[in-house]
Amino acid sequence: MKKIGIITSGGDAPGMNACVRAITKYCLNNKIVPIGFRDGYKGVIENDFCVLTFKDVNNIVQQGGTILGTYRSEKFKTKEGRSIAIENLRKNNIDAFICIGGDGTFTGASILSKEMDIPVIGIPGTIDNDIYGTDHTIGYDTALNTVVEAVDKIRDTAGSHKRIFFVEVMGRNAGFIALNSAIASGAESVLIPEEVTDVKEVALDLKRQNKGAKSSIVIVAEGDDEGGAKEIMSKIKPYMDGYSLRYSVLGHIQRGGRPSAFDRMLATRMGAFAVECLVKGISGVMIGAKGDELHTMSIHEAIHHLSSPDMSKLEMLSNLRTIS
Ligand code: F6P
Repeated sequence: MKKIGIITSGGDAPGMNACVRAITKYCLNNKIVPIGFRDGYKGVIENDFCVLTFKDVNNIVQQGGTILGTYRSEKFKTKEGRSIAIENLRKNNIDAFICIGGDGTFTGASILSKEMDIPVIGIPGTIDNDIYGTDHTIGYDTALNTVVEAVDKIRDTAGSHKRIFFVEVMGRNAGFIALNSAIASGAESVLIPEEVTDVKEVALDLKRQNKGAKSSIVIVAEGDDEGGAKEIMSKIKPYMDGYSLRYSVLGHIQRGGRPSAFDRMLATRMGAFAVECLVKGISGVMIGAKGDELHTMSIHEAIHHLSSPDMSKLEMLSNLRTIS
C-alpha cells in the first residue's frame, strides 16, 4: 500500500476536514502517500489532485466545509465517466481509495471497486445521518446543534408574538435532524418523511396545544410528503383562523460551521481506522459506529438498506405535549 486516493463527495458536512486530516497524517506516518482529489469524483475524472502534506492539514480539524471541495458528479454515474476515472487512478498508481460522503458517494465507490478491482473504503459523512450501519454520520451532530440553536432563537420571537412557527430543516429523505431537533428544542410538533402527514390533524393538535402554550414550534423536514414549511403553513392556514403563523427555512446554515467535539472525534477515529483497515487488507467496506465502537460493514449492505430514525420517539413526543 503506497498511495491512497481520498475524496469528499456529495453534500459537505462539518467534520470532513477532521477526517481528511486524520487520513493524511495516518498515511504520512506510515509511509503512504495521500492523494487528495478535488471536488469528489469530478477531480478523479479530470485528474485534478494534490499530494497532501502535513502543512495542508494542520489547523483544519476545527474548520467546517472540506478543503478538498465536493461535487455531485453526474458524469461519474456514466460508464464513460468512470472509465476515464479508472484510467487516471491507474496512471497515478493509486493502490486504494477512501471516499467520505453519503449514499450516492458509496454507490459510486461500490461500482468503481467492481469495475477496477481497487480496494475501497467508505466513511459516512452527511448531515442527514441517513446511512445504514452507523449510529452517527460525520456532520450530523454539528448540524443538529445548529438547528437547535436556531430554533431556540425562533422560540424567543414566537413567544413574544404568540405565534406558531413552521421551521424547515434539511432531510430530503430522512427525518433524523427533524425528529431529534424537535425533541431537543421542545417543539410542539414534528413532520418527517417517514410518516404520512395529515394537515388537518396537525392543525387541530396545534390548537389543542396552543391553548396552554403561548407559542408553538412545528419542525418540518424538507422531504415531508405535504411539502416544506411554507407549503405546510399555507395548507394549515384555513384551519387556524385567528392564529398568527410564520415560517422559517433554515437552509444551508445547517451544513456549515465548526464541527462539534463529537464530530471531530468521530471523523478522526473513522479516518484513522479506514487507513488501518486498508493496511490490513480490509476493503469493500464502510466504517460505522455503534455506541463508542467502530466497525466495518460491506458497502453493498450499507447502500442496500434504508436507515430511518427511531419512530418510538414520535410516540414519546406526543406524550410531551401541553394540553390544557
Ligand atoms: O447533504 C445532504 C443535504 O444537506 C440534504 O439534507 C439536502 O436536501 C441536500 O443536501 C441539499 O443539497 P444542495 O446543497 O445540493 O442543495
